[in-house]
Amino acid sequence: MAILEKHKALEKNASLLLVGSFLVVTIGGIVEIAPLFYLENTIEKVEGVRPYTPLELTGRDIYIREGCYVCHSQMIRPMRDEVERYGHYSLAAESMYDHPFQWGSKRTGPDLARVGGRYSDEWHVDHLTDPQSVVPESVMPKYGFLSNRFIEPKYIEDRLKTDALVGVPYTSEMIELAKADFAAQADPDADTEGLVERYPGATVSNFDGQKGITEMDALVAYLQVLGTMVDFSTFQPDPNR
Ligand code: HEC
Repeated sequence: MAILEKHKALEKNASLLLVGSFLVVTIGGIVEIAPLFYLENTIEKVEGVRPYTPLELTGRDIYIREGCYVCHSQMIRPMRDEVERYGHYSLAAESMYDHPFQWGSKRTGPDLARVGGRYSDEWHVDHLTDPQSVVPESVMPKYGFLSNRFIEPKYIEDRLKTDALVGVPYTSEMIELAKADFAAQADPDADTEGLVERYPGATVSNFDGQKGITEMDALVAYLQVLGTMVDFSTFQPDPNR
């Protein structure tokens, strides 16, 4: 066949083959990559997903600092055993404001993507303080010291600004009121109307039951919001996306 005869020239000439391969890879690359520059967003927006409150965000930083991700994932895969154990599979939108994401790859302990609301605040404090007191066979380390570490939200505005810089929609109002929101979320007696308006569904509680705001308060606030932002009783995946 004539065309195969012509192909022979390519096969016999290394330089020509190199140029040809380069051309093919370039075209293939452009076809794959170029559309991504024109898409507004590759993540389907889902109702209810909001940025973390200042207290939750602080708890998240503690979660990362303590290396909880070494034993816990936050990504429920769309397979039956996972969905039956942990709940609705994770949506991309649910971690769209996570910098860095906490999907993880190791499950020494269970997945935590939907642990929010599953236990009481007291359970979390007891469990973090002494995991073996509630789950005797647990190999999870003790984190009781978090209850003794009181925190001042010294850099919380900068922390929110940093996330805003990479695309988390924190408004200037949220940044301005970050210190107040931080304190209000851990104080059931505070006026939290503004906080809940800025961060719908935010749980207000004295998480660790003691006076003052500790790292325990922040961490439990974070654990209690995990997987609770989307209402799966009304969620409908959009088949057109
Ligand atoms: C050495 C591994 C390890 C580390 C590190 C670890 N955990 Fe765990 N975690 C476990 C194991 C194992 C379990 C299951 C037994 C239990 O409930 O204690 C567990 C259970 C949990 C549960 C209960 C989940 C459920 O659905 O019942 C929570 C919440 C939790 N861990 C939070 C954390 C947080 C927060 C950190 C970091 C401060 C952390 N873990 C660090 C191993 C670990």
